[in-house]
Amino acid sequence: MTILAGRPSVRALQPSLIRKLSNSAIGKTDVIPLWFGEPDKPTPEFIRQAAKDAIDEGQTFYQPNLGIIELREALAQYQNRLYGTALTAENIGVTPSGMTALAIALQCVVAEGSAVVVPSPVWPNLPAAAAILGGEIIRVSLRPRGGAWRLDLEELFAACPPNTGALLINSPNNPTGWMLEDDEQRRIIDFCRERDIWLIADEVYSRIVYDRDCAPSFADKVTEDDKYLIVNSFSKSWAMTGWRLGWLTAPKSLVSTLEAVSEFNFSCIFAPTQIAGITALQEGEGFVRASLARYQAARTLLVERFAELPRVNLPLPSAAFYAFFSVEGVSDSYAFAERVLRECGIGLAPGAAFGPQGEGYLRLCFAADTPLLERALTRMLPLLT
Ligand SMILES: Cc1ncc(COP(=O)(O)O)c(C=O)c1O
Repeated sequence: MTILAGRPSVRALQPSLIRKLSNSAIGKTDVIPLWFGEPDKPTPEFIRQAAKDAIDEGQTFYQPNLGIIELREALAQYQNRLYGTALTAENIGVTPSGMTALAIALQCVVAEGSAVVVPSPVWPNLPAAAAILGGEIIRVSLRPRGGAWRLDLEELFAACPPNTGALLINSPNNPTGWMLEDDEQRRIIDFCRERDIWLIADEVYSRIVYDRDCAPSFADKVTEDDKYLIVNSFSKSWAMTGWRLGWLTAPKSLVSTLEAVSEFNFSCIFAPTQIAGITALQEGEGFVRASLARYQAARTLLVERFAELPRVNLPLPSAAFYAFFSVEGVSDSYAFAERVLRECGIGLAPGAAFGPQGEGYLRLCFAADTPLLERALTRMLPLLT
């Protein structure tokens, strides 16, 4: 007998296509894995040491739901430094990962049957986390235009039905590297105010951007009267994917709600992990910059090489560390990614994993050293020419 989940929205969940493909390669040793979205290097030593010291000091007890006050203060100061905001610890809730921050934000906002409007292609976990709660997902297409991805704001606004509960926007975007500009963010906030819609902004790639210090953030455009939640994470900027540490920025008056929702989801986060987070914020700026220089070199390599291949089209990613490219003649991205895996030993993520708008594309994570990427490109060449 097969036991199915009781909740219909959970029964309807589809497994991740990226996991499905990567599971098929378990046990293969010669695969260059470029399918997952994470830096190739471990967390820097000074961050790891801070956590080790905290363990040795015996910091193994339960902690406050919203995170230890020192980390909440450090997060407010970090954002104030980047964006010129006046946030305080009362605007911050620490979470065990960006994914959990997203889930908590959506639990605070999404009512059963309300519409959640999401620009796509997008990391599948965003719409899935809203769909679990009974949200009706409406996708609005990002489109490549003039060599880069764009969102037509008029199209976004027109796509919001009267029952819209939230706009769920991931900028900088996984998988395309598309990014909202400041004036676009202002127009989105004006729209949310006019229509009384929540804004949930996923900014986990805010520090991985190639033409400025940090990506435009909604943080410096919202007020304490706006209905907003900003999701962020330590995973990408400080190479801390396995630690599971993220945070939410929200109006102060919402934070007691966050506290309750956090209590009933995860209760609290391991203190040494939070102390590692403080160290990352206070001493990790050099690491963020050095990582970016590596990703910049990798991006340049891929852009140059793909430009030499007439069948390949790579709209320039402004941010994040993904090349999201199409190959002429490829319409089934999963079948093509399977072929790339089988014939070239390269793990790519199929574009269909990011919604129907991603079909026909492949995602390659370039958070890696350029010699490895050179090798991967050489192996893939027969299927790209
Ligand atoms: C757009 C986006 N948001 C959130 C996350 C979650 O990051 P984490 O749960 O590792 O903090 C990811 C990870 O890939 C992502 O790509």
